[in-house]
Amino acid sequence: MRPILFRVVHLFALIFALTVAPSSSMLSAFAADAVAAAGAGADTRPDIVKRGEYLARAGDCIACHTAPRGKMFGGGLAMDTPFGTLYSPNISPDAQYGIGAWSPDAFFHMMRTGITPDGKLLYPAMPIAQYTKVTREDSDAIFAYLQSVPPVREPSHPQQLKFPFNQRKLLLGWRTLYFREGEYKPDPTRSVEWNRGAYLVEGLGHCTLCHTKINLLGGSSQRDQFAGGLIPVQNWYAPSLTSDKDGGLGDWSVKDIVDLLQAGISDRGAVYGPMAEVTYHSLQYMTDDDIKAMAAYLKTLPDRDPGRKAGPSAPTNTRIFQLGSQIYADKCALCHGQNGEGHVQHYPPLAHNQSIEMNSAVNPIRIVLNGGFPPGTQRNAEPYGMPPFGQELNDTDAAAVVTYIRTAWGNHGAPVTDREVNELRKAPLH
Ligand code: HEC
Ligand code: HEC
Ligand code: HEC
Repeated sequence: MRPILFRVVHLFALIFALTVAPSSSMLSAFAADAVAAAGAGADTRPDIVKRGEYLARAGDCIACHTAPRGKMFGGGLAMDTPFGTLYSPNISPDAQYGIGAWSPDAFFHMMRTGITPDGKLLYPAMPIAQYTKVTREDSDAIFAYLQSVPPVREPSHPQQLKFPFNQRKLLLGWRTLYFREGEYKPDPTRSVEWNRGAYLVEGLGHCTLCHTKINLLGGSSQRDQFAGGLIPVQNWYAPSLTSDKDGGLGDWSVKDIVDLLQAGISDRGAVYGPMAEVTYHSLQYMTDDDIKAMAAYLKTLPDRDPGRKAGPSAPTNTRIFQLGSQIYADKCALCHGQNGEGHVQHYPPLAHNQSIEMNSAVNPIRIVLNGGFPPGTQRNAEPYGMPPFGQELNDTDAAAVVTYIRTAWGNHGAPVTDREVNELRKAPLH
């Protein structure tokens, strides 16, 4: 698996940031602050190191900071953007090439502010906008764990962003607009469980990195948090996690959400694409209590888009619908059922499955073209897969079958065109 978890659009912010003239005194103040923070070494108590390992999993550090077939935490994962390529750095405890010479203070300063000990402003491809919510105690535990793994004696790959995006000081503009520094503040009117879920989802879990619509300046309004968004370049759509019943978790039970996150399969659907990586590297390892807390928190996210779709979404007496119906009966019904009812939990239902009906048709098109496997997890060690149909079905056939599953059985999706299918054939596989 090759995770590239990156919201490219953040970089648009840099264009805007050109208008902000950063004062060099601001930069040196950051640097001085960080250097002054150098202090004692990492905690080596086994229970703290173990807790740190758990928290690093919750934060999914390994997915971004390990290259395919590379050494653990050695960095080097390439993240392609229209502005050039970003590489994750080596964060192993090697003193020369990794973060072995950092202190717990310096590490915490980086987590809270997104500024490294040498005063470097980090790009938001590193989820600093979310990690800023992490507590000092948790940061220290993560640092303790990172210092306990084998050092990797390999230099970090230099970033290869084009001018002007390679100018880190431009990040001051993005930071002014969109970076809100500060630890998660528990809501005293809510339960301990809810607050734990909110802390994990908004902080270490960095779910909003993908599940939030962002504007051309790389920012998002409070209203758009969790409302779903397209992941650029990768071309997968991260659905709304609010209670929006047309494309959110409104009629999912806590158990459905827990199963999906932890096992990768549920009565409502299975994970695929970038979400499969999140479950594989991170969520499957989290305790039942933590996953339940996250689900409980997600269930309380308000519906921002009330007003249900009702009535048929498109005519079903068309030639395309007929063609789609034929292809479905031949190639899909075996697994997903004559009436889209699926065979839970291995073959997801397609009828009344909001991730197929939602406005964006990117995910159903891509899964038909590319097929998919939910990740092997502790709770679902031998997942059942779906074959790719990209070779077998031409653009018209694929558009017809996706149109069919989006509009049959009372589903409320809109039809898709041959062109939409054709464009997604070029999307990167991972
Ligand atoms: C979505 C991908 C992603 C995730 C998840 C992620 N990182 Fe990063 N991280 C990056 C990228 C990319 C950079 C380099 C950013 C830059 O050059 O400005 C980075 C930079 C860093 C740095 C600075 C290293 C240096 O030498 O400058 C540290 C330390 C770090 N990450 C630690 C972590 C930890 C700890 C976690 C988990 C809690 C984590 N990262 C999770 C992508 C990620
Ligand atoms: C790297 C981007 C990324 C991150 C980070 C991410 N997701 Fe997702 N998520 C997706 C994509 C893409 C989908 C759609 C594919 C699928 O349903 O598996 C998805 C699907 C889901 C779904 C199913 C929604 C539906 O309507 O079918 C849930 C629930 C979910 N994510 C929860 C989370 C939570 C909770 C987190 C944080 C712990 C998270 N996601 C982090 C990209 C991401
Ligand atoms: C061999 C069994 C099998 C066949 C045949 C099959 N699928 Fe699937 N399908 C699956 C499995 C398993 C998944 C879950 C994949 C994953 O999580 O990566 C899935 C997932 C999906 C999804 C995503 C569901 C969601 O929750 O978002 C869609 C849409 C889909 N299939 C449509 C189709 C269509 C259309 C066809 C026929 C062209 C088809 N499938 C044929 C097994 C199958």
